[in-house]
Amino acid sequence: MPVISFATSKGGAGKTTSAIVLGTELAEGTEVIMIDADPAKRLTRWSSLAPLPPSVKVVRSQGERFIQDEISDAQREASFVLIDLEGSASRLTSFAIAESDLVIIPSGEEQQDADAAIETLAEIEMEGRARRRAIPSAILFARTSAAVKSKLEKHIHRELMKVGRVMKTELHRRTAFSSLHNAGGGASPVRPS
Ligand SMILES: Nc1ncnc2c1ncn2[C@@H]1O[C@H](COP(=O)(O)OP(=O)(O)OP(=O)(O)O)[C@@H](O)[C@H]1O
Ligand SMILES: [Mg+2]
Repeated sequence: MPVISFATSKGGAGKTTSAIVLGTELAEGTEVIMIDADPAKRLTRWSSLAPLPPSVKVVRSQGERFIQDEISDAQREASFVLIDLEGSASRLTSFAIAESDLVIIPSGEEQQDADAAIETLAEIEMEGRARRRAIPSAILFARTSAAVKSKLEKHIHRELMKVGRVMKTELHRRTAFSSLHNAGGGASPVRPS
């Protein structure tokens, strides 16, 4: 069953938020396990804010020595396994990336975000080389404005399109997304269990 992780070395880029949005949307149709592999535990905190649909389970990773088993256990139980990673390189991050079928790299439209996305792409490539397989990755523009793009924003898009695959979908900056961390639940209304 597919394992999708969310990684970038830029803190606050939108990893946890994108994981929540994708996880809760997928859970409308199938079983999803979300692994919180960030010591800051923001995904776990989100999961405690409001009741989750029965098709979503959030599991806290016990750390680098356990992550591989946690992923295989989750794969046996659910159709999709999503992993929320911390914003800095660590053995835990490396192990999770190595086990992933897709790594989503959220990025804002600022130079620091783009630099971090490029750094993360390089890290994914290194992991892939070590494992002798290409690990698919995709950049997701997050926290973007729905308005017409500025010159700088267009430049950042072009730069990232040169170095990696960029998703057509963007996660625009919306109060509905930031309030997930305050009210819990998913982007769509949670159906009662
Ligand atoms: N699409 C969005 N619209 C509005 N706010 C957003 C969006 N994406 C993220 N945010 C806000 O930006 C902040 C950082 O987002 P998030 O926690 O998802 O980033 P992160 O990459 O997981 O951060 P960290 O590296 O600290 O784990 C949060 O306060 C969140 O509410
Ligand atoms: Mg996070």
